[in-house]
Amino acid sequence: MIPETHEARQNGVPEQSDALVLFGASGDLAKKKLYPALYHLTAAGKLRVPVVGVAATDWTSKDLAQYAGDAVHAAVSDVDDAVLRQMTDRLSMVTGDYREKQTFGELAKRLDSLGVRFPAHYLAIPPGLFGAVVEGLAAFNLNAKARVVVEKPFGRDLDSAHELNGILHRAFPEQAIFRIDHYLGKESVENILVFRFANSFLEPIWNRRHIANVEITMAESFGVEGRGVFYDSVGAIRDVVQNHLLQVVALLAMEPPVDATADALRDEKVKVLKSMKPVDPAHIVRAQYEGYLDEPGVREDSNTETFVALRLEIDSWRWAGVPFLVRAGKALSATATEVAVEFESPPRLLFSPEGCQPHPNHLRFRLGHHDGVTFSVQAKAPGESLISQSVDLDVDFKDALGARQEAYERLLGDAIEGNPARFAREDGVEAAWKVVQPALDLPEPVSRYARGSWGPRAADTLGGMKHVWHDPEERI
Ligand code: BG6
Repeated sequence: MIPETHEARQNGVPEQSDALVLFGASGDLAKKKLYPALYHLTAAGKLRVPVVGVAATDWTSKDLAQYAGDAVHAAVSDVDDAVLRQMTDRLSMVTGDYREKQTFGELAKRLDSLGVRFPAHYLAIPPGLFGAVVEGLAAFNLNAKARVVVEKPFGRDLDSAHELNGILHRAFPEQAIFRIDHYLGKESVENILVFRFANSFLEPIWNRRHIANVEITMAESFGVEGRGVFYDSVGAIRDVVQNHLLQVVALLAMEPPVDATADALRDEKVKVLKSMKPVDPAHIVRAQYEGYLDEPGVREDSNTETFVALRLEIDSWRWAGVPFLVRAGKALSATATEVAVEFESPPRLLFSPEGCQPHPNHLRFRLGHHDGVTFSVQAKAPGESLISQSVDLDVDFKDALGARQEAYERLLGDAIEGNPARFAREDGVEAAWKVVQPALDLPEPVSRYARGSWGPRAADTLGGMKHVWHDPEERI
């Protein structure tokens, strides 16, 4: 039972939910991410509520436990059977069609029998079904004192995101809507915020006077991997740029928040998104990897981009004129997500042989594998002469600080506990759609690039600006 003192002030939704209701319990996301995350939460002693799975699949609670157990074994090495049992003991199943009222009647009975008053409803289902679920929940008053967690992509453009927000708001106030963007759950991404505002040396140089450009690369060496139908309807801009990568830009560019509360953080991020100009179509390169059209589920005449590079601008006192260069793609040369901040070059060549270009410093945040930071500086090369040489000051956070938690484990825990800081807010989501809107459904045919390459050459010139991208495989 939740003590009344835990009631949130604004809308009667308690901070702590007393059940997790998982719509899409037999789906791919639940299998790959949510059950492993529930396992980790159980191991950490943080899962203390019943979990009710809902799906059209005709399963008993035992079938659900079996499925979840298999999913955990597939994702986690060294599964502790006692922990897994603790987790699966919390599961029960409600079978039904989301469009049928009866499904929600069954769910209401189940929640009642479990003594649940403040459920968190997790919609791991296609957005097209959100309306039906929200209506069904409201019909049985299951939205009252409840929270709803929704997966990305949140809409497919500004209008549909706005419409989706309208649908959710019919039954839930904004404070009760938790929009997932799993990048916000990554410790490596949160580190950008900590690194920027817990180190005072950075602030005086973190602006247009000292930074030449900011580059963000999200590269994946694999293709659409059986997700052809979904991916083909989405493409790289909707799949990862509008959400994950714009959140990274916001963290890199935001002003210090007034405090560490969820809304103070989100206010500052939203300000960045609002001060970004909608991307200029002349600053966008879209391309498709060779062989994409043969992927199962992809339309044979598809013009969906599997690679995008774009140049963004932030119209603010801190950033005006600094290009934020973003590229994302599948079937590229490596899997790596990185930020590379390039500082202005030194004004004179004192320590380099004649004819050489001065070397700018780079600060690199690795957000995927080998999560960490590299600061590339110049130091005296060994020998007689006063010549500088690049050297990396490098830290791997896992080695230095210990293992990170998985994003979904943190996000599920937050959703149950009612901490909205790592979730996207309505105004932020809509502002992000406004930024990418000109890039969506560009009529021009996408160009092609070879699998295993770094994408099309055209990405090296965005809007006439020559740019040499840093290869995440190499040290700068
Ligand atoms: C998902 C995208 O949101 O993020 C996938 O739908 C992508 O296409 C994935 O592969 C990448 O996530 P991560 O955490 O591996 O960088």
